[in-house]
Amino acid sequence: MQFDRNFVDELKARVKLSDVVGRKLRLIRRGREFVGLSPFSNEKSPSFTINDDKGFYHCFSSGKHGDAITFLMETESLSFQEAVEKLAGDLGMEIPRASFQNSEEQRQRQARRVTLYTVMQQAAAFFAAQLDGPSGAGARAYLDRRQTPQDIRKAMGLGYALPLRTALCDALIKSGVTPDQLVESGLAIKPDTGGLVYDRFRDRIIFPITDNSDRVIAFGGRAMSADAQAKYLNSPETPLFHKGDVLYNLASARRALQVPVKGNGRDSLIVAEGYMDVIALTRAGIPNAVAPLGTALTEAQMALLWRLTPEPILCFDGDGAGTRAMLRAVERALPLLAPGRSLRFVLLPDGLDPDDIISRQGAAAMEALLKTPLPLADILWSAETSRMPLDTPERRAGLEQRLNALVATIADPAVRKYYQNDMRQRIGALFRAASGPSIPQQPYNTPQRRYPGRGRQFPPPVGVGPASTELKRTHLVSGGANVYAGARRERLLLSIVLNHPVLLDGHIEVFSGLTLRVPKLDKLRSEIIELTALLCDLEKESLRSHLIDRGHGELLDELARAGEQSGDRFSGGGADHSNAEAIWIDTVRRHRAETDEAQEIEEAKQTLAESFSDENARKLIILKQQSAKDAEDEQIGGLGGVPGWSLKP
Ligand code: UTP
Ligand code: MN
Repeated sequence: MQFDRNFVDELKARVKLSDVVGRKLRLIRRGREFVGLSPFSNEKSPSFTINDDKGFYHCFSSGKHGDAITFLMETESLSFQEAVEKLAGDLGMEIPRASFQNSEEQRQRQARRVTLYTVMQQAAAFFAAQLDGPSGAGARAYLDRRQTPQDIRKAMGLGYALPLRTALCDALIKSGVTPDQLVESGLAIKPDTGGLVYDRFRDRIIFPITDNSDRVIAFGGRAMSADAQAKYLNSPETPLFHKGDVLYNLASARRALQVPVKGNGRDSLIVAEGYMDVIALTRAGIPNAVAPLGTALTEAQMALLWRLTPEPILCFDGDGAGTRAMLRAVERALPLLAPGRSLRFVLLPDGLDPDDIISRQGAAAMEALLKTPLPLADILWSAETSRMPLDTPERRAGLEQRLNALVATIADPAVRKYYQNDMRQRIGALFRAASGPSIPQQPYNTPQRRYPGRGRQFPPPVGVGPASTELKRTHLVSGGANVYAGARRERLLLSIVLNHPVLLDGHIEVFSGLTLRVPKLDKLRSEIIELTALLCDLEKESLRSHLIDRGHGELLDELARAGEQSGDRFSGGGADHSNAEAIWIDTVRRHRAETDEAQEIEEAKQTLAESFSDENARKLIILKQQSAKDAEDEQIGGLGGVPGWSLKP
């Protein structure tokens, strides 16, 4: 059987090679590429290289080279046809019927599509001209009221459909388009009773919807009057447009990502709910925004997002409809999660959408919200725990059952395993918290998060393993005197990980996000993370021997000596994992507090240097005093003499 070339090209363009390969091999990112151990040879150091941009892999040990299709053919012994069908199935792409038809029909179909593209292009030009023309005054005033400046109107190709029955039809028919083509392109409607075709869009602001190659394939239209029948009207399904496969503004958002600006949500795709939100975000200097077209995000749309960005950020109104849409996205995403691939969420306050926030509070307010997206696991947890009070054993069991069922839908075994652990820990932490005070329930000093606009607090993001009574009697909880400096804390953090690599199962993100100021410890951390990605079961001894292979033997000995000097059995190799974990988390919290403080002082100094005022000077002084006081507190009541992290087994 022959597949349509266009379809196969489209498939290859949509599939992310590292996802396909990532299901078979553990991959680690190296610059713009990924590497892993070759599936074609028995190698010790990874030489199998994947480039997502090019869609190719190259295996330096066997010399093999290919794309997602050949990868499946080689590693799963599939035929070309089977590989294409499998990939299409994964991406939720329908294999076009045209591919089964003879080539004459294919050619005709293709020719019709080419014509339809031109029709859409002409319509877009007509709508844009009307917005600029004398009849467009009302539409221009509307866009002014919605704070959409001229350059944005041009860049987004906005237009206006006149309040007449056949304005577009007349204009296009005059330039040679047939009534049938107008209907096929979704621009015109043919009355059931027969008679002349008429315009679908009338008296509406027009938003052109484009495909990956910037060709116009559909339109959205917003009514200007508040009492119009439908606020928004979209093109129907046509040979060019399947709304579940398209995201508004994707082509330009992708270009925006190619000039990445770090932070503030500008280095990842932002998904909003509507056209006007995307336009407002663009105006606010966040041009990497897209929107689905009036439906919940589909699997195919998620696949498009993931091709460009591993953790797109979904913005939802904090109101009822927004929350429902968000939960639907969570449920749809779960089966598709993969290592490193997820969704993040920003909940907007008070039933506002991004357009409202930017128009009323300014771009900075929106940027601030985008800075702290919530992970999918938090949303899942909050949604399930907030359904009802969890005050009886039956309700608690019900919660556990619902979470288990949802987690079971995750197809990727590794991600599923981590979700199982994560949810188990949260349940443990929640019910311990409910049964009275014990060890601090807020690990890592995470600020309390809220559902904006609802005033409901998020339960603690991650639970701490139960602390033994013995542990509670130590300095960690009761407080004791000892000196404890930043470098020692960093050594302790690494030593615990070296002795209890299983910790990384649940805390790898935290570990990789730590600010480590001692360069050799920072380097050691990178190596550990890289090895975690390569080794399946991270055992203490194998980690140690790999690190020695990589030239870290001396540093390991140094850490061991430092550990022996202080001698403590809780965080050392012999300690129970959950005690070691509790100590590690507590140390992370202290370390973060200290590094955040240092960062704030740095920023305050900078501000003072830029603008010298009493106000700025006072801020710096207060910060410094606070920092000195915290350091003192830590010496008195801190983690104290715990550092006993002997590396000896
Ligand atoms: P909203 O109702 O949230 O509109 O619909 P909005 O984006 O805030 O619009 P403004 O600010 O009032 O102009 C979100 C999206 O849902 C689709 C559209 O794609 C819209 O952008 N929609 C909404 C429809 O398709 N039809 C409708 O009647 C309403
Ligand atoms: Mn809106």
